[in-house]
Amino acid sequence: MRQAGRIVAGVLALMEEELKPGVTTAALDALAEDYIRKSGARPSFKGYPGSYSNYPASICVSIDEEVVHGIPGSRVIEEGQLVSVDAGAIWKGYHGDGARTFYVGTPPPDVARLIQTTRLALMAGIAAAVPGSHVNDISGAVEDVAIEGRCDIVRPYVGHGIGTKMHEDLQVPNYRTGRPGAELVPGVCIAIEPMLALGSADVETLPDGWTVVTTDHSLAAHFEHTIAVTENGPVVLTTA
Ligand code: MF3
Ligand code: CO
Repeated sequence: MRQAGRIVAGVLALMEEELKPGVTTAALDALAEDYIRKSGARPSFKGYPGSYSNYPASICVSIDEEVVHGIPGSRVIEEGQLVSVDAGAIWKGYHGDGARTFYVGTPPPDVARLIQTTRLALMAGIAAAVPGSHVNDISGAVEDVAIEGRCDIVRPYVGHGIGTKMHEDLQVPNYRTGRPGAELVPGVCIAIEPMLALGSADVETLPDGWTVVTTDHSLAAHFEHTIAVTENGPVVLTTA
């Protein structure tokens, strides 16, 4: 899983480099797929079953009010866009899943706050993933940072267990549920993935069956890491 995570981190670093005005989201997807395959892995998103159709691409590219699961295509990246990229790789049967949000140019202060708050919410969630804690401790840590940063939490989508499948049983909400949830014991691997919005975080899915947007079109950000709980605390797997 560490190797799968390294490959995902490599994809996201490559996307950061290539994310410039004029590039299409399909071109980004092609670069990502090529990188994943040349690393000896497979793109886990491609063909992933959805309620209407299987996911057609190797990454998700979600722009501005798009929260997650934006499908790459002919759309052109422009200055001033808020772009979330989500990537998944399977290496020798093990999964890595990660996401980051980038701004094309220099973000205005409120957008910088959204990006920073979402990133810090992820970091706080990771820090809470120590043995003996429970899933709700992660959820609470994420929620606190979101509130402190005056961002609204997208609730219908949650983090998840991950291992030999991309989505394993455990769910990791980005808000307190009022129950402790599963205990975090060494060996537990999870993807923590706060999704926050600047306005209302109510969401709907577009007719393409995948793209999740904020109903009020407010900007949204998404950061995700795959981590392992160990005796020595959380270890981030989706990093170089
Ligand atoms: N990274 C996403 C998640 O955490 C998965 C993308 S959906 C897919 O659930 F269909 F593209 F795979
Ligand atoms: Co995920």
